[in-house]
Amino acid sequence: MHEPRRGKDFSQELAEKGWYHSFELPDGTQIEGYNRIDTLRSRYARFPIPADLTGKRVLDIGAWDGWFSFEAERHGADVTAIDCVEVPNFLQIQKKLGSRVSYRILDFYELPEAGLGAFDFVFCLGILYHLKHPLLALEIVCALTTDTAIVESFVTDANTWREHQDEVPTMEFYETDELGNQLDNWIGPSVSCLMAMCRAAGFARVQFLHTTGYHAGVVCHRKWEAIPPNPQAPPPELLAVANSRTFGINFSTRKEEYLTCWFRTANETVTRDQLRLEVGPFGVPALYVRPDETGSWLANFRLPPGLPAGWNPVRLRLADTAFATTVLRIAVDQPLRVEKLVLEGACDGTTWNAREVRLSDAAFISCWVAGLPENCDRANVGVYLGESKLRVQYVGTPDAHGMRQINAILPVDTARGEYPCRVECAGVRTEASILTVI
Ligand SMILES: C[S@@+](CC[C@H](N)C(=O)[O-])C[C@H]1O[C@@H](n2cnc3c(N)ncnc32)[C@H](O)[C@@H]1O
Repeated sequence: MHEPRRGKDFSQELAEKGWYHSFELPDGTQIEGYNRIDTLRSRYARFPIPADLTGKRVLDIGAWDGWFSFEAERHGADVTAIDCVEVPNFLQIQKKLGSRVSYRILDFYELPEAGLGAFDFVFCLGILYHLKHPLLALEIVCALTTDTAIVESFVTDANTWREHQDEVPTMEFYETDELGNQLDNWIGPSVSCLMAMCRAAGFARVQFLHTTGYHAGVVCHRKWEAIPPNPQAPPPELLAVANSRTFGINFSTRKEEYLTCWFRTANETVTRDQLRLEVGPFGVPALYVRPDETGSWLANFRLPPGLPAGWNPVRLRLADTAFATTVLRIAVDQPLRVEKLVLEGACDGTTWNAREVRLSDAAFISCWVAGLPENCDRANVGVYLGESKLRVQYVGTPDAHGMRQINAILPVDTARGEYPCRVECAGVRTEASILTVI
C-alpha cells in the first residue's frame, strides 16, 4: 500500500503553477492553478446550498488561495476564511476583487476560542486528512454550523466504497510522510468512515455527495428533514430524558455526554434510523434503541455540539410522525447557584413516619428541602446520613412553597441507631435533622 500512497504527491506540479486554485478575474485576468476553474465550479455547484446566500454566514476552513471563499461571497454571503498560514495569493485576489471576506490566520483547533460566532454554512474542504485529531476537528465544525457543513477529504476507497459499504469502516494512519510525501497528512478514511465520523461528531444527517479521484465529499446537516405533510401515524410520547451517566438533567458541552430518552409509541418495532430527536435547535442521531421492561422504549444519543448555554428543549418524533406536544428540557453549561437550603423534614420513604426509617432491602429516606436551584438533579444533590453519602434516587419538582421531595436509598447494612441527616447542593448544607434507623 505504501508506494501508491506516497505517489499522491502533487508538490512539483503545484510549485510550477504557483497557485492551488485557478481564477478568472473581472478585469479578464486568468490564473491557471493546480485545480482547474471548471473543476472548482463543478465542485461548488454540487454543494446543496442556496444560490442566493444574502444574509447567510459562511466559514471556509483552510481556504488556501480562497476560491471557495470568494465564490460564496459572489453569491451574497458574509464570509470568514481561515488558514493556519497567511497565503499571499489569497491577499492578492482579495485586493483585486475588492473583497470583504474576513481573513483570519488561525489553526483549526483555535476555532472554538476565536469568537467567530456560528455559521449557516461551513466549508471543510481538503483539510481533514491534514489533521491529527479528525473527530475533534469534525466536532469543532459541527459546533460552529447551524445549518449545513460540506466536508471533502482524501479517502482510501473513492472508486470502490459502495462494494464494501456494509463492512466495518476503516481509516489509514500516516505517521510521517507516507501520504503524498507530506508531513502533515495524517489520516485516510474510507468513505463510510468519513460519513460515520461526521455523524459521530454530532450532525443529524450525513449524505454522500461525490467522489472524484482520491477525494469524497459529504453533506452534513444539523437539522432533520421536514416533517412529512399530513403524517398519519401518531407521534411518540417522550416520557423522560436524562444524562446517561449521571441520570441528572445537567449536561456540559466540555464533556463527552450522552442522553437517554424514554418514550412510548404505538409502533410494534422501532429502529435507530426512525428516531428524530431534537435538542435545542439541532437534530441528533440515535446510537441505540431497545424496548424496556415497562413496555416503553429507551434510546441513547450523544449531546449535540454547539448548544447554547441554559435550558434547551428536547423533542422526539419518528421519521413518519410529527413531534408530540410534550417538550422536556435539559440544562446545558448551567451553573448551580444555591444561597440557603432548609431541610423541612426527613422520614421513612415508605411509611412516611417522621424522624425514623425502618431497615429493609428496599428502604429509602424522603426529605423535603427548600432553596434548591432550578437545575438541581439526582447527581448534584447529596443526602448524608451521618458521614455516609446515600444514593439519591429521585428529585421532585418544587411544590407551591418551593419545597422538593428528595428520595435516597438506605443501604441494608446500615447499623440501627440515631443519625444526623442533612442535604447538600453546590457546597451549601442544610441543618441536620435527627433520623433513627430502626
Ligand atoms: C489541500 S488545501 C485545501 C484548500 C481548499 N480548502 C480546497 O479544498 O481547495 C489545505 C488547506 O488547509 C490549510 N491547513 C492545513 N492544516 C491546517 C490547520 N491545522 N489549521 C488551519 N488550516 C490548515 C492549509 O494551509 C491549506 O490552505
